[in-house]
Amino acid sequence: MATRTIIKRGDALLKKVSRPVKDFNERLWSLLDDMKETLELAGGVGLAAPQVSVLRRAVIVLDEEGNPMEMVNPSLTARSQETCGMYEGCLSVPGVRGWVERPEKVVVRFQDRFGEVKTLHLEGLQARCVQHEIDHLDGHLYTELTDQFIRDEELK
Ligand code: CO
Repeated sequence: MATRTIIKRGDALLKKVSRPVKDFNERLWSLLDDMKETLELAGGVGLAAPQVSVLRRAVIVLDEEGNPMEMVNPSLTARSQETCGMYEGCLSVPGVRGWVERPEKVVVRFQDRFGEVKTLHLEGLQARCVQHEIDHLDGHLYTELTDQFIRDEELK
């Protein structure tokens, strides 16, 4: 395993649409392993492959216990009508957070590292995080969804 460099807002790669993963091979597994290590070192709650300069549809989201969940080719199959708002951050946009309203609950369909299809019902921080990470796969940052920003230190 190795850590990879997290690219920052302004890098053109963050605006590109990532391609589906088709090969569930060692190359994918080492990407997922590196993403987990990179996320742990950075102290975030989620990471998308394009943030480490790989334009493939793979993300890591921490579960409620803080353990990494790997999601390959994730997509939302349902979202709740109820929304909730929170100051959201991104490892590619350090130092600030922005107030973002999102559906409170979602159903996500994805594949694991072996290609097996899974479905999860998520709510709270995990639901928010998976929406944020899927946005990365489509070339979008949360900063497009808000104009209410706060510096990290103002939250403390
Ligand atoms: Co992000």
